[in-house]
Order: sequence, then C-alpha cells, then structure tokens
Amino acid sequence: MSRRILVTSALPYANGPIHLGHMVEYIQTDIWVRYQRSCGHEVHYVCADDAHGTAIMLRAEQQGVTPEALIAAVSAEHQRDFSDFFITFDHYHSTHSEENRHYSTLIYERLKAAGHISTRPVQQLFDPKKGLFLADRFIKGQCPKCQDDDQYGDSCERCGATYAATELKNAHSTISGATPVLRESEHYFFELPHFADMLATWTRQGTLQAEVANKLGEWFASGLAAWDISRDAPYFGFEIPGASGKYFYVWLDAPIGYMASFQALCKATGLDFDDWWRADSDSELYHFIGKDIVYFHALFWPAMLEGAGFRKPSGVFAHGFLTVDGTKMSKSRGTFIKARTYLEHLPAEPLRYYFAGKLNAGVEDIDLNLEDFVARVNADLVGKVVNIASRCAGFIERNFANTLAAVAHPLLDAAVAAGDSIGQAYEKREYARAVREIMALADQANQYIDEHKPWTLAKKDAQDPKIAEVCSVGIELFRQLMTYLAPILPQMAAQACAFLRIDDLHWPSRRRLLGQHVIADFQPLMQRIETQQIKAITDASRETLTPVAPAAAAATPDQAILPTIGIDEFLAIDLRVARIVSATLVEGADKLLCLQLDLGTAGMRQVFAGVRQAYPDPEALVGRLTLMVANLQPRKMKFGISAGMVLAAGPGGGDLYLLSPDSGAQPGMRAR
Ligand code: 2FM
Ligand code: ZN
Repeated sequence: MSRRILVTSALPYANGPIHLGHMVEYIQTDIWVRYQRSCGHEVHYVCADDAHGTAIMLRAEQQGVTPEALIAAVSAEHQRDFSDFFITFDHYHSTHSEENRHYSTLIYERLKAAGHISTRPVQQLFDPKKGLFLADRFIKGQCPKCQDDDQYGDSCERCGATYAATELKNAHSTISGATPVLRESEHYFFELPHFADMLATWTRQGTLQAEVANKLGEWFASGLAAWDISRDAPYFGFEIPGASGKYFYVWLDAPIGYMASFQALCKATGLDFDDWWRADSDSELYHFIGKDIVYFHALFWPAMLEGAGFRKPSGVFAHGFLTVDGTKMSKSRGTFIKARTYLEHLPAEPLRYYFAGKLNAGVEDIDLNLEDFVARVNADLVGKVVNIASRCAGFIERNFANTLAAVAHPLLDAAVAAGDSIGQAYEKREYARAVREIMALADQANQYIDEHKPWTLAKKDAQDPKIAEVCSVGIELFRQLMTYLAPILPQMAAQACAFLRIDDLHWPSRRRLLGQHVIADFQPLMQRIETQQIKAITDASRETLTPVAPAAAAATPDQAILPTIGIDEFLAIDLRVARIVSATLVEGADKLLCLQLDLGTAGMRQVFAGVRQAYPDPEALVGRLTLMVANLQPRKMKFGISAGMVLAAGPGGGDLYLLSPDSGAQPGMRAR
C-alpha cells in the first residue's frame, strides 16, 4: 500500500557552517527518505534555515551586514553543502519567510483564542551596556546547583541542571562583559500544562523511541510549566500580533518552519497543504532531530499543533551526537570538520556509508573513527562490492559481447529474500544492521566467484559458457547489492544503472533478474580512500594557534571577558612599535600573512598573523607601523617560526585589523 509521508530534518541555524555533526542527521534522514521513495511511497522531504534570534542578529551586527543579508549568504552555503552530500530535500526554505510569518501568526492566534496564551511580567536580565535583554546563551556565571563557574544561563553543562538565568551567580553578559541588571517586562506564555493529558498519551503511543519517552516521563513527573514564547525588541524575528515591541521567541517559529517549507513546496507543486496538516490527516509526518532538542519536538510542538487544530507528528526520531576518534569534535585536534572542508578532500559517499554503518534507531552517540573509516570504506565498498562487478565485467565484455546469460542460482534467491529483512532495517532506521546484511551478501558473492574462478576457466576456453554463467550470477548479485545500497550510495547507484543499462534500482525491482541483457563497459565505481586525504582534512580543520593575541583580537564576545592582571604582568609584556618590511601570503593557510618586521635596534622578526582576511592586498601593508608583542616565546608553525605577535582588533569571524601607533613613533620604541 502506498503511503504519504512528510519528512523533516531539524532546521540548522543560519549563523554558522554545516559540520559533520550536522551531517549525521541529514544523512540519516536522506537515507530513510530515499528508501521510502524507492519503495514507491509518496514522500516529501523539507527543511529550512532557522534564521531568527539574538545570535543571528548579533552576528550580522558584528559583520556589519543586515540579518537578511547574513541569512541569505548562509542559506546558500548550507544548500550547497547539502546538495554536495546528495541530501535530496524537495524544498529548502527559511523561517524568515512570509509562509512562516503566516503560520506562526495563525497558530498563535488560534492558541490565544482558545485560551492557551497568557501574559505576565517577567524579571529578566538586561545588558545595560548593549541595551538588550539577554537570551540565556548570552549570560554566563556560576551554576546554582553545583556551583561550577562559567556556565550558561539556561543549563549547566557539568551537572545537567536547568534553571532560570536569574538564578546564576556572578553573572556577566558574554556580549559586553557588563553585569546584567534585572528589568521587568511583560512576557507571553504558552500554557503547556493545558496539554498534559494529551501529551501523556501521545508520548506513549509509539511516536517516540522508548528511551526518549522515558526521559519525557521524568519531565512529566516534575510537572510541566508554561513556556515563555516572547522576546523583547531588539530581536530578529516576527513581531507578535497586537503586542508592539514583542517578538516570537525563535523556538516558537522554528518548528513552524517545517510547515512553512512544506507550504512553499505546495505552492510550487500544487500539493494540498491542508490535506497533510489537518487534524485528521491520514498522511504520516516524521521529524528527525538531535537528542538535545527533544523537549521542543515532543512537548511544545505537538501541544502547539493540537491547540491550533493541526495534526501531530506520527513520529519524532532522535539521534545521538557525533564524536570523532572517540571524543567531542575539537578544533585543536582538527576534528571539528566542516562539511565543506571534508568535501574539498573526499567525496560524500564514503561518509554516508560509514555513518550508515554506525547508525541505529537509538540515541547513542556515534563515533567517526578516522582510521576505521578509511579501512571500512576501502574493504567494504571497494574491496567487496565494486570488486564483484569489476571481476565479472571484464569477461562479459571481452568474451561475450557485453551480454549477460539468463541464470538462476540459490544465491540470487537468497539475495532477494534478504531484501525483506534489509528493507525492514531501513524502515526502522537500523542502518547498521542493513549494512551488515548487505555486506554478508557481498561476501557470499565474492566467495562464489572465488570458487568458480572464471579466470582459470578462461585460460582453457575463453568462450566457455560456464564463464558467462558465473559472471552473470556475479553481476546479478551486484545489481541486488546496489539496489540495497542505493539509499546510502545514490551516486554509485546511478553509475551502476549506467553500467547495467537499467533505468533504476527501485526496491521492488530487486525481484526481477536482468536475464539475457546487454550491459555497458565497466567503469570504476569508487576510488579507494587514502590516509593522506584524512590528514589533509584534519590539517585544514586544525586551529593550532591564534596568531593574534586573544585580548586584542576579541574574536568572540566570550573572549572579551578576561580576568584582570596586575601591573607587573602588564609590564612583563614587551610591546614594541614595528615597521612592516614585507607582507606575503602563506600557502596552505588562508587566514595568515607572513610579516617581516623591523624593530629598529631590536632587530628583525618574522611573525605569522591571522589578518589576511582584512588585507586581501598584503603589499599595501608594506611600510606601515604596527604594534607587536616582542617577547613572546617563538613558536614553530607548519610554515616556519613565528617570533612574536602583532596586535589587531576586530569584530570576530576572521576580520582583524592591525593596530597602528600615531605619527612620531619609530620602529623599536617600547609601548606602555
Ligand atoms: O538546534 C538547532 O540547531 C535548531 N536550529 C533546530 C530547530 S529544529 C526546528 F524546530 F526548527
Ligand atoms: Zn551545575
């Protein structure tokens, strides 16, 4: 029976690049979507950028652009990354869109009319320097439960406690460093407790994974609270109708972005929105998300939908986080890998395959072990799957005019039968099991070829029909395997179709054999991965050194907050005026310039400085005076020795501007 399925992945924030941690989810969803499409179901897969909130507003401000310009640029980058990883969204939208404004307003108004919205004054922390109410992520201080320092304003990363930002001790604004002050403002609330009964049933209806439902059970036990859905201006988002200066909190309109994106798809294709979203719709709706955002998707979201008269999700599928080589992704280890950096060195499919081999239906974290990644892709895909085709194709091509023989073999029957279990594994998101079962078939196919040794037969009689039979069985098995792998390896599947001269590898077609059939010449389907490619990725991702003193650079708002130092510590810094004698690009480092600096009687210095982005024409710096820390211990970098640091300042994000002394200063003079 054909199903009608709407699928979403979580909407990435529009203020930063996609990294491999994100890709786990998009690859997981895309495999599921491709499997469902391959079965012939009607599937629509939508996503969007999550474009609202203070973080995006501040990032735009730092970059000196409008939020609209920032989110447009980021969206283009995101979409390019997704497309190059073969993620097949039917539509990619933005939460900053008319469709989203429409549904956010509609849902809010329906909730309000039904008595699910309340208002009350809230005492909230305000940054007096910046003139801004502070979102929780922009406040840091001491955890009220475990007393750990440097915790964010909503939850403690050490003990897991959640709390109000006002409960933090010794709080400071991470934007300006100012001590926040309490200010009162009227806030709007969504009365989540009105939906307690519905949620208690819905969360136990098989819509959630068992471990997620259990976690929610704990939250229920501690009681549901009304949810604060408003934020005060200035805020980048949608103003709440009838509430001037109040905006919808980004998390209110983010999931509505799923609807907005779908509506945009409806406009483009003629699909009927209401047919998919009305309360009694018989279509299915699934959200793939990370385990950190379960609260929003399994409590607020179904309650909002119910309260506004829309259908609720059929399932919310949470996954774990990505670790690399067993630990959290790390910039200093070079394992915080952006999607684009990966793609600059390797094709997408090996990673899709590796993630699939690790993914199951649970919420455990998955590990990308880089050594294992190389070994597994080479052994399984190149060594097993491609090998079957490449070993058989040559004989069929050379000796049988590219024509397969019609064959029957118990292995082929077994491969067809295995498809039921493999299909179930995809359906249940147990991709690791699917991959294991597919590779077991690949092993059997290779054993079969090894046993019958067509190369030995060919030495006696190249036209021996037994060769055609063995190689045809091999290629039929290869076609089965590619049908089963197609949701994971779409590009290789397309190449396999070209090689086999078939139109598609849809799931039901696995039951039909090719029979007597002319195939194309074999072309290599996948390259081995080399360890050097992995090294190139980690090298390009590694941020070993901050070439400019962090105090001066203030690369992020957080770094602006430094502990005070005494006068002795200050005087220990040998600050000197330096003349830039030469400034050159550094090959392989797109952020660095190599500066030769003249310090007068103190001699010459070479310094690598992270200022390249602000000075696309480094020549223009020659002759200019700047300031440097001259007594910094020289450091050996990949490109040479860096003996000191120049002082620069900037808004962060790579734009750093060199500081200069006033006229009269001479190279070598000490600054104090
Ligand atoms: O956690 C995040 O990255 C959010 N931008 C996800 C939003 S998903 C949906 F609700 F929009
Ligand atoms: Zn704590």
